[in-house]
Amino acid sequence: MPNSSERREKVACTVANIRKLFDGKEPSREMLAQVKTELVKLATSKHLFTLEDFPPPEADDPRNSCLYRLSEDEDHKFALYANVANAKVDAPPHDHTTWAVIVGLLGVEENKFYKKAEDGVEIFGGESVQEGTGVMLMPDDLHSIHIAEGEPVLNFHMYGLALEQLPGRNYWSAPKKEWRTFPAHTDIREAR
Ligand SMILES: [Fe+2]
Repeated sequence: MPNSSERREKVACTVANIRKLFDGKEPSREMLAQVKTELVKLATSKHLFTLEDFPPPEADDPRNSCLYRLSEDEDHKFALYANVANAKVDAPPHDHTTWAVIVGLLGVEENKFYKKAEDGVEIFGGESVQEGTGVMLMPDDLHSIHIAEGEPVLNFHMYGLALEQLPGRNYWSAPKKEWRTFPAHTDIREAR
């Protein structure tokens, strides 16, 4: 079976399990832990998620990372992406306004966690996402992500709602010392 059809099948099966888990309920940390378990299981099919199938941006691309859509329901829920980076990434502390789970396949993505403080944010922890590990975030949880130059990173990002549908994600701008809003994502690539 060609990789693309095996990949579609495995992804569909994983998302079906996750959809069943939610079954109309509001997300909880326990549910997100189960989402993480499902995605870690999917990540063991390493031959289906390679840099050949999900190439990072070229060196002359102004972006250092990009997203490939692996799955999304018709109502835009349960959006699963492959996120790939090949250069330094530093995303400021931000929320998602929906739940999010990140699971690693290749390379290392450092996550730092924050709580809101009077003057912006206060860091309270961190975790690195790499092969077989992941982090979970409730809609209001804040994290920043950091990827070092030199080693490409490929991981799963799953959200309760597709990124194009999330125009209100907030981030803390340290230089401006204010909360700002990310524009909705527009350049998500379709996986083969
Ligand atoms: Fe994020």
